[in-house]
Amino acid sequence: MIRNNLYLLGAVLFSLSPLIKAQTCNSTSLCPASAPCCSEYGYCGSGSYCLGGCEPLYSFKSTSCRPNPICQSQETNFSDLRRVQLNGTKYDGNATAYDWVVNTGTLVPSPSGDGVRLTLRESDQGTKISSTRYVHYGSIDFVLQSSKWNGVVTAAITMSDVKDEIDWEFPGAATDKVQTNYWFLGVANYSATQGASSDISSDSSSNFHTYTFDWQEDYMNWMIDGQVVRTVLKTDTLSDDGSQYKYPSTPSRIQLSIWPAGISTSAQGTIDWAGGMIDWTDPDYVSNGYFWNTLQSVKISCANEQDQSNTTTGWAYQGNDTQGIPIVDVTNASTLLSAGELASVPVKNKQVLGVVGILFVFALSGITLF
Ligand SMILES: *[C@@H]1O[C@H](CO)[C@@H](O)[C@H](O)[C@H]1NC(C)=O
Ligand SMILES: *[C@@H]1O[C@H](CO)[C@@H](O)[C@H](O)[C@H]1NC(C)=O
Ligand SMILES: *[C@@H]1O[C@H](CO)[C@@H](O)[C@H](O)[C@H]1NC(C)=O
Ligand SMILES: *[C@@H]1O[C@H](CO)[C@@H](O)[C@H](O)[C@H]1NC(C)=O
Ligand SMILES: *[C@@H]1O[C@H](CO)[C@@H](O)[C@H](O)[C@H]1NC(C)=O
Ligand SMILES: *[C@@H]1O[C@H](CO)[C@@H](O)[C@H](O)[C@H]1NC(C)=O
Ligand SMILES: *[C@@H]1O[C@H](CO)[C@@H](O)[C@H](O)[C@H]1NC(C)=O
Ligand SMILES: *[C@@H]1O[C@H](CO)[C@@H](O)[C@H](O)[C@H]1NC(C)=O
Repeated sequence: MIRNNLYLLGAVLFSLSPLIKAQTCNSTSLCPASAPCCSEYGYCGSGSYCLGGCEPLYSFKSTSCRPNPICQSQETNFSDLRRVQLNGTKYDGNATAYDWVVNTGTLVPSPSGDGVRLTLRESDQGTKISSTRYVHYGSIDFVLQSSKWNGVVTAAITMSDVKDEIDWEFPGAATDKVQTNYWFLGVANYSATQGASSDISSDSSSNFHTYTFDWQEDYMNWMIDGQVVRTVLKTDTLSDDGSQYKYPSTPSRIQLSIWPAGISTSAQGTIDWAGGMIDWTDPDYVSNGYFWNTLQSVKISCANEQDQSNTTTGWAYQGNDTQGIPIVDVTNASTLLSAGELASVPVKNKQVLGVVGILFVFALSGITLF
């Protein structure tokens, strides 16, 4: 149930309509040895289920998931898509071969040659892309133009496999503002000023701005065009009982998306937050066949990269510490699936991975909405 007066923020977690009855997984129901990996959507499987998003603590063993490919400082100019695997189901975990993978949806080169459009069609659920490598602290610069239509949301986030998350969210038609937020193990702290809105100096849909996460072990800054608009200190996130810092602290992929919030299957609060229902007769939609945002570049600067050994391939989860915080350590185990493992995933399971919806809505007031 939704209360209308709540101030809502959304994020890009995706649910799915399963075509098959795959076994589900959660904190109390781990995956079996026969389908050892818990996907980011909470279904057990093998093959690509064991790659990006694989939930280590809900899998058969925390090492069932492939390691999170180690960070490499890099800049992607999205006018050139050679480092982007456009068909996500073909990705085998080789982060040396690709820097980005399209999880769902379609990329269209920007007509003006200044990047790529992530598209949203009435017949799909929008587009989501993920970095193949993970960042465990560092700085991420997004240069983009947001979407500008009621009900359409653009997001640029970090997301870990245990659902630590840091967000930029551009809801609906409010192109003079952007919202910032973060989650710790999938939970937002509604009582703190966790979600916040920042002004942008010019319209975000017709001008490229640089949106930065400066995510370090002790603090995170959100910056627009080099100016800090929000800071959260790790020490600010200590739980009331003093047992835990509720601070994003696990290796995270970078994800960008465009998604439909203003559709009839969304909660009313989500629709309101995003600026209302999507108008599929909008002239921009009719003439292009899609809504879009434009991504020019993403620059990743990894923290402590100089300390990496040259046999290190990634980060692997080692279970929880005594505070229930997941422990990660570097590993030199392979991040790749074998050709057999990639092929072993039944076709129906692969289709499941491509079906997305919107799940995530929350209220600053602390009311759970679903
Ligand atoms: C975990 O999944 C099991 C089996 O589907 C279900 O019975 C249980 O309620 C779930 N637990 C949580 C915490 O969601
Ligand atoms: C991105 O690449 C395009 C085409 O290769 C080039 O024209 C453009 O200048 C590049 N942009 C940046 C910001 O480097
Ligand atoms: C993506 O790759 C899979 C597996 O190779 C293939 O079955 C599918 O047709 C491809 N999809 C597209 C849109 O090319
Ligand atoms: C990973 O991709 C790189 C670049 O395409 C290639 O040189 C390397 O052989 C691949 N590694 C494996 C194990 O396939
Ligand atoms: C939420 O954040 C506030 C201030 O940062 C903190 O005092 C409080 O303990 C947090 N609550 C929870 C449940 O983490
Ligand atoms: C790995 O590092 C060692 C010492 O730091 C160096 O001798 C070796 O050549 C490096 N190997 C590769 C493949 O870069
Ligand atoms: C890790 O800690 C979390 C949070 O306390 C808990 O939900 C989860 O069950 C724990 N997982 C394992 C494998 O101990
Ligand atoms: C990988 O790490 C293990 C354990 O630390 C070590 O025994 C092994 O020699 C390492 N392998 C390589 C190729 O460095």
